[in-house]
Amino acid sequence: MARPGLFVTFEGMDGSGKTTQLARLAGRLRQAGREVLETAEPGGTRIGQQIRDILLDERNRDLAPRAELLLYFACRAQNVEEWILPALARGAVVLSDRFTDSTMVYQGYGRGLGAAAVETLHEIACQGLQPDLTLFLDIDLDTSLARARRRNAEAARRDRMDEQAAEFYRRVRDAYLDLARRHPGRVRIIRGGQPEDAVAADIWEVVRAHV
Ligand code: TMP
Repeated sequence: MARPGLFVTFEGMDGSGKTTQLARLAGRLRQAGREVLETAEPGGTRIGQQIRDILLDERNRDLAPRAELLLYFACRAQNVEEWILPALARGAVVLSDRFTDSTMVYQGYGRGLGAAAVETLHEIACQGLQPDLTLFLDIDLDTSLARARRRNAEAARRDRMDEQAAEFYRRVRDAYLDLARRHPGRVRIIRGGQPEDAVAADIWEVVRAHV
């Protein structure tokens, strides 16, 4: 789809540092004079935040996997329509903390709902929109689990996703690496275990070629 803006998504395991890095990149792009829209999934829009609350509420442990899948796409459809497409049309850089690749790896592979269902729903929900660039912040499994637990303890909260077994996380990471292999032009692997400044430098090296 031809459009004046640039759509960059951040992907990675829980605790991979993508939220911090997204904010840093946004600052750098603004300094360079670009309009930047920062968004996050699940969430983003006002309606998306309400959907996020359902998805991450620990009382909803009995949320059926297919209902969960559709809620992620409902959230995304609203975000694409309300914020992302208009921002891209005016030439902004859109930075999204997660997008359809998350659903592919967490629901499609992690929960075993399959790639075909995710691809079909993506076409309906996202109107053919694909990221120009996806930054996959790769960290090892132990670091991911430890960081996610520490973060939840600090926030005095637990959410449903962090209760998943290590085996689930292993499937998720393998699926991310597989996506990177299958889409080498779009998905770039960033070594997320490095010090924060080094990760930011690697990200800038990739992004500057696109802006
Ligand atoms: P966050 O910690 O990056 O805010 O992500 C919240 C959780 O939601 C995280 O465990 C990954 C999960 N998630 C999915 O399972 N499927 C999706 O499509 C998205 C966007 C997130």
